[in-house]
Amino acid sequence: MSIKPATATAGAPSAADPSGFAAVHGEADRQLADVPPDPVMEAYKLNVYYGDFHAVHDVNLTFGKNEITALIGPSGCGKSTVLRCLNRMNDLVTGARVEGEVNYHGQNIYAKNVDPIAVRTHIGMVFQKPNPFPKSIYDNIAYGPRVTGMKVDDMDELVEQALRGAALWDEVKDKLKQSAYGLSGGQQQRLCIARTIATRPDVILMDEPCSALDPIATSRVEDLMLELRSDYTIIIVTHNMQQAARVSDRTAFFTARPDETTGNRTGLLVEFDQTRNIFSNPHDKRTEDYISGRFG
Ligand SMILES: Nc1ncnc2c1ncn2[C@@H]1O[C@H](COP(=O)(O)OP(=O)(O)OP(=O)(O)O)[C@@H](O)[C@H]1O
Ligand SMILES: [Mg+2]
Repeated sequence: MSIKPATATAGAPSAADPSGFAAVHGEADRQLADVPPDPVMEAYKLNVYYGDFHAVHDVNLTFGKNEITALIGPSGCGKSTVLRCLNRMNDLVTGARVEGEVNYHGQNIYAKNVDPIAVRTHIGMVFQKPNPFPKSIYDNIAYGPRVTGMKVDDMDELVEQALRGAALWDEVKDKLKQSAYGLSGGQQQRLCIARTIATRPDVILMDEPCSALDPIATSRVEDLMLELRSDYTIIIVTHNMQQAARVSDRTAFFTARPDETTGNRTGLLVEFDQTRNIFSNPHDKRTEDYISGRFG
């Protein structure tokens, strides 16, 4: 079950425009929004409810291997909700109900026989606020491999690799037994990224990972994301337009539409495309208004 691309509606044909497509859509629209060539995950007809509240409506999205996809949009449009669906984190939210499919390498992670804990070892998550465990730097990294029963020949080596992978090793190599709480906010966030990559996921979800960081720490985490991209698929929620433009390959723009009777605002995907198209030539007026700061 794959997502069908939108079909073009033709206008009046002419010699220069035999299909009539350009007459309706303009020359630029002759190309369909391009989709990732090598998909790792896809959300298909994803709907999310919190009790009776329909929070997210019919989201179809494809995430490409070794790409960074940014989810952007105004507050409350369902970005975090969608992100949490991608590794079954919403299972932990009381009253949350997910409909539709999230296919990871072609397998629906919501299928009956799928263990959500196993899902999260393949699809890791980094949260908005750095949340190291009240343990040493070393044990923060070793914890995941230990509890998931990963076969590890040399834990010291694994810890070093994860910290190097998160560009933190040089700063902490002499204090691995000290508490993670002694690190700065930016270091703590890189520790959380190291903790995530220690269990060797292939997808990393990040929900506003830099919102609690200063510009220097933000820039380090952005550089790190770009480095990690060669080994991982990254999906990031951000309110920072420059960040989305700087780091992501593709961007999905969401908005929230109020229900006419209840006034409840349901989130929906407006547009998904290569980041450069979203920021330079968006198709939808709502995307244009948002990225130019006129809305949200
Ligand atoms: N645990 C929950 N229980 C009930 N409603 C929730 C819950 N979490 C989110 N919602 C609602 O679902 C909608 C989408 O919320 P979500 O947190 O996904 O938005 P968001 O786009 O991430 O917003 P922000 O940019 O402010 O983080 C909102 O209306 C929110 O109030
Ligand atoms: Mg959010």
